[in-house]
Amino acid sequence: MTNAVLITGATSGLGLAYAREYAKEGYNLIITGRRKEKIKDNANDIEHTYHVKVKVLIVDLANQEGLDYLLDEIKDDEIEVLVNNAGFGLKPVLAETAREEMDRIMFLQMNAVVILTQCILKKMLIKNTGTIINISSDGAFAVMPRNVLYSSTKLFIINLTEGLHMELEKSNIKVQVVCPGFIDTDFHESAGMNVIKKKKGFLKFSSPEDIVRMAIKDLKKGRVVCVPGIEAKIVRLMVYFLPRKMFYKIAINFTKKRNKKMNR
Ligand SMILES: NC(=O)c1ccc[n+]([C@@H]2O[C@H](COP(=O)([O-])OP(=O)(O)OC[C@H]3O[C@@H](n4cnc5c(N)ncnc54)[C@H](OP(=O)(O)O)[C@@H]3O)[C@@H](O)[C@H]2O)c1
Repeated sequence: MTNAVLITGATSGLGLAYAREYAKEGYNLIITGRRKEKIKDNANDIEHTYHVKVKVLIVDLANQEGLDYLLDEIKDDEIEVLVNNAGFGLKPVLAETAREEMDRIMFLQMNAVVILTQCILKKMLIKNTGTIINISSDGAFAVMPRNVLYSSTKLFIINLTEGLHMELEKSNIKVQVVCPGFIDTDFHESAGMNVIKKKKGFLKFSSPEDIVRMAIKDLKKGRVVCVPGIEAKIVRLMVYFLPRKMFYKIAINFTKKRNKKMNR
């Protein structure tokens, strides 16, 4: 496939919003996910609405076998934009997290991102053009109890992207890391969290379409780290300026209140 945008985790939420946005601009798509029916329905809808080609790859990217399958499937494709979006959250505290779940979240949100990025970057460098968008979270700045591994992998993604930006200084390849706050997607339900998505303080949920719109606007301005929306920006600033002990207290209290609301 030529003129393609590869989006991992485009079955729903942010990945699907990216898929629609790039299809609207006329790009062909390669999208991945595990929920076969849902992703195929969305792919058909996108093809009919925007008259682009959509290749669907049903794959679990939280392990080496799945990643190898994806790399093999895309080896002849010309990918102009890569969106490393697939991700999930975990509910338990670290001490009670199953080893398998730890391995899966670290593989999906670190190994798969790095390996896929390197593989596609090598081809982009030959043509000296391309865009790599990595999805992080405001949780990368504000680590909270019960979110330790998730936040740590998302912080890894920020460093990876900023480092890459500097390494690619002399090229025409753009990189961006997007760090949203709460988004109204399947994310919380998939992690077994029972959330009430009412707009209240920091618990305001943005739409995935709004996040994509803000991120693409920032990308065009050349902003490497995109923190979309006022809530995520406040979180980032607060965490940066607060003394650490005060931040820990706020984070612990916030988590207790949130867990009550989310029935954790
Ligand atoms: N929602 C939020 O509040 C929020 C806030 C900040 C950042 N984010 C980040 O935004 C990204 C997208 O999440 P979302 O909010 O749009 O949630 P979502 O609707 O649950 O989408 C997550 C996507 O990742 C895919 N995925 C999950 N595990 C996978 C695996 N093992 N292998 C392959 N694909 C997998 C899912 O597809 P299948 O289930 O079909 O596999 C789905 O398409 C994630 O990286 C998340 O960390 C979300």
